[in-house]
Amino acid sequence: MAINKFMIRLLLTIIFISKSVVSISNFSLAKLDCRDHCGNIPIPYPFGLTEKCSLNDYFLVTCNETSRSHHPKAYLMNSMHISDISLDGQIRVLQDISHDCYAPNGASVSGNNPSITLPDHYTVNNTANKVTIVGCDTYGFFYGTIGNHNYTTGCAATCNTKDDLLEGSCSGLGCCQTAIPQEISSAQVELHSFHNYTNVNDFNNCGYGFVVEESVFSPANLTNFRDVKKLPMVVDWGIDDKSCWEAQKNRSSYACNSSNSECSDPRNGSGYRCFCKKGYEGNPYLPHGCQDIDECKDPSLNNCEKHCENNKGGYRCSCPKGYLGDGTKGSGGCYRDKSLELKLVAACWTYFELRRRKLIKMKQTFFLQNGGLLLQEKLRKRDRSLLEMVKIFTSSELKKATNNFHENMIIGKGGYGTVYKGILQNNKVVAIKKSKEVYPSQIEQFINELIILSQVRHRNIVRLLGCCLETQVPLLVYEFIGNGTLYENLQNKDKSQFLSWENRLKIAAETADVLSYLHSAASNPIIHRDIKSANILLDALFTAKVSDFGASRLVPLDRAQLSTMVQGTLGYLDPEYMQTSQLTEKSDVYSFGVVLLELLTGRKALNYDKPEEEINLANFFLYILRKDRLFEILEENIVCDETREQIIEVSKLAKKCLNVRGDDRPTMKEMAMALDALRLGGRNSWAKVEDDQEEIESLFGKGLSSISFSDDHSESITVPR
Ligand SMILES: *[C@@H]1O[C@H](CO)[C@@H](O)[C@H](O)[C@H]1NC(C)=O
Ligand SMILES: *[C@@H]1O[C@H](CO)[C@@H](O)[C@H](O)[C@H]1NC(C)=O
Ligand SMILES: *[C@@H]1O[C@H](CO)[C@@H](O)[C@H](O)[C@H]1NC(C)=O
Ligand SMILES: *[C@@H]1O[C@H](CO)[C@@H](O)[C@H](O)[C@H]1NC(C)=O
Ligand SMILES: *[C@@H]1O[C@H](CO)[C@@H](O)[C@H](O)[C@H]1NC(C)=O
Ligand SMILES: *[C@@H]1O[C@H](CO)[C@@H](O)[C@H](O)[C@H]1NC(C)=O
Ligand SMILES: *[C@@H]1O[C@H](CO)[C@@H](O)[C@H](O)[C@H]1NC(C)=O
Ligand SMILES: *[C@@H]1O[C@H](CO)[C@@H](O)[C@H](O)[C@H]1NC(C)=O
Ligand SMILES: *[C@@H]1O[C@H](CO)[C@@H](O)[C@H](O)[C@H]1NC(C)=O
Ligand SMILES: *[C@@H]1O[C@H](CO)[C@@H](O)[C@H](O)[C@H]1NC(C)=O
Repeated sequence: MAINKFMIRLLLTIIFISKSVVSISNFSLAKLDCRDHCGNIPIPYPFGLTEKCSLNDYFLVTCNETSRSHHPKAYLMNSMHISDISLDGQIRVLQDISHDCYAPNGASVSGNNPSITLPDHYTVNNTANKVTIVGCDTYGFFYGTIGNHNYTTGCAATCNTKDDLLEGSCSGLGCCQTAIPQEISSAQVELHSFHNYTNVNDFNNCGYGFVVEESVFSPANLTNFRDVKKLPMVVDWGIDDKSCWEAQKNRSSYACNSSNSECSDPRNGSGYRCFCKKGYEGNPYLPHGCQDIDECKDPSLNNCEKHCENNKGGYRCSCPKGYLGDGTKGSGGCYRDKSLELKLVAACWTYFELRRRKLIKMKQTFFLQNGGLLLQEKLRKRDRSLLEMVKIFTSSELKKATNNFHENMIIGKGGYGTVYKGILQNNKVVAIKKSKEVYPSQIEQFINELIILSQVRHRNIVRLLGCCLETQVPLLVYEFIGNGTLYENLQNKDKSQFLSWENRLKIAAETADVLSYLHSAASNPIIHRDIKSANILLDALFTAKVSDFGASRLVPLDRAQLSTMVQGTLGYLDPEYMQTSQLTEKSDVYSFGVVLLELLTGRKALNYDKPEEEINLANFFLYILRKDRLFEILEENIVCDETREQIIEVSKLAKKCLNVRGDDRPTMKEMAMALDALRLGGRNSWAKVEDDQEEIESLFGKGLSSISFSDDHSESITVPR
């Protein structure tokens, strides 16, 4: 038998399809110890070549390998000849085509109208297939059944001369097509002729009809179909007649039972299908059939610029050392950390001072390393009140609440850990902080925060609800504050429009109030050490909630000893503290001043996208004040006649906070009073600005401004030893 061009094409397509299915990946298609191919046709589970290897009889494939001259042929349920199985829920069935042929004198020569009836759980795919009729004196009917309804459609294909025929067009001239409805389970095409082909006999004496995977008509089909017996039709399959919802009720018969497999029912109740979750590939019908995709191995699957790190169900981009950015293409990628050189300078600058302290520090570190448990013990014994106030959660409780610390639940990443959103069993939403790595120093931060937060209570401090000490790293559980950080609200244009001047003033006053409380009200003064807009959370009413007490310090009675390793966030760091390492409450005042500037200008504390003189907001602001150009850098939407005076007052307050000498800065109590007074419409008397230009010039102008080393991710840092 001559294999014509079409057949070869068909074969090539089939081979190509099978090949592409196999080469997608290296996962197993079939059950253990089961054959997964019939010839070159892959047979993925739930299909199988024996009863044991298939899910049930509907998926039993027989492989006829007796004929040596041909490839083995696969038959489904002993009836349907199939050429391809797709795990997406389709198979290609090779079905006979109808033909109707006449002799030159108009006598019928041969004809047949084969029909195909699909078994349960199989239906003709209505989007992939078309009823197609080919001929120049032909019309035909399609008879189908949907459930127990009959459905009929049809079309006519005619032409007068060979020249009428158009390559690629199937709209009536030599070829017609018509669509079919969903859920057809049996099909037959019946052919008729108008004039028994007597008018067109010189070039066409047969008509053909079939339901076929949509394809392009060529005039050559008028003759080359003579040798074609079978054409592929796309048939949908599914498991049972159930919807996902129904199927899930009986787990022991549920096909999408394995991990990372999920259910879908696009066929409106006539069977469900399984798919691997996003980020996974494989056979979702097999236990452990869905395997993680290593996106990093395929550049087309990840959008990392440099480093790519695969994880379960996804991947992460990162930047090499010395670079900043999130590492994804398009959003800036990785760019050189300009602050690195400056950091080096700074490191040298503090080298000798820090070396002296290194010995002391080492002792401290050892103490803390071994003291983690001690601290926990202390908490248990001494602070009975703490134990009553905060709940001790179990680790499984928190795992459940965060979906096993799933990536989707991450709401923030800070210097000391990752913050997850969690939903407790009683549906209460909480925020859960978890350390990134298991360094003793980080555990120290957590214990520190636990101790500090257990001693303070204030409506503008994020409330600690409990903790979990079972895990390697302690987990802290807080009330959930839903509207993000002040930083996000200022930087996101959609959100910042809601930050009216009134709200900004409220946030400033409340933050000042918290700091004033920490510095003076509590029995041991507390220095927050990392005041920044990213550590101020907002609720829907724009109430400020100060958070992240990981770096905070209780001030010992003997104040002279409070010299610490310089810690904080660049752009907010008190220059005096950086120079002397002497921590005082006034460091918080400086940082608070920078937050005021953010509220006034909407700018970032450090922004490397700006010209050099504008990178450090504090420096630039003082420069602008000196030039009397305050109104050039204010956030536009806060300035109006009513707010003008308040804005000028707040600018003056901010300037005082940014005084180089800590002693010259106001206390937080003074700040809180002044801001409260402003909110109530009063004017404060003391916030007159004395112009200490020279000092600012000498310190900010040259010397210290160069130490504004930082990244603009505003992560907390510790100056390297
Ligand atoms: C397929 O995976 C198996 C183990 O999972 C491995 O031994 C084999 O080399 C892999 N084959 C290919 C072609 O990657
Ligand atoms: C297999 O195919 C050959 C040739 O096409 C045919 O003669 C034979 O009956 C088939 N066997 C089965 C079991 O279908
Ligand atoms: C056309 O063919 C049909 C049978 O298919 C036959 O009954 C009829 O007589 C034919 N008409 C002519 C004009 O030959
Ligand atoms: C029909 O096939 C197309 C692609 O061949 C597929 O996207 C669609 O989901 C199928 N329809 C059904 C009901 O499965
Ligand atoms: C559908 O057609 C078949 C044969 O063509 C007929 O036996 C059956 O009664 C029809 N069903 C209905 C519901 O019309
Ligand atoms: C018609 O013939 C062309 C050219 O041989 C071929 O590419 C096409 O697939 C055929 N049409 C159908 C419906 O098979
Ligand atoms: C589905 O899962 C349940 C419990 O995980 C198990 O008992 C059952 O055998 C599984 N069913 C199948 C078909 O794998
Ligand atoms: C669940 O499925 C199993 C296996 O198909 C079957 O034996 C059992 O009767 C079903 N249970 C229910 C409650 O339908
Ligand atoms: C699903 O089936 C119902 C009735 O069986 C029908 O009303 C609905 O339109 C169908 N939905 C789709 C998307 O076909
Ligand atoms: C945040 O605040 C706005 C304005 O008050 C409100 O419309 C929005 O729902 C809040 N969003 C959340 C997540 O609470």
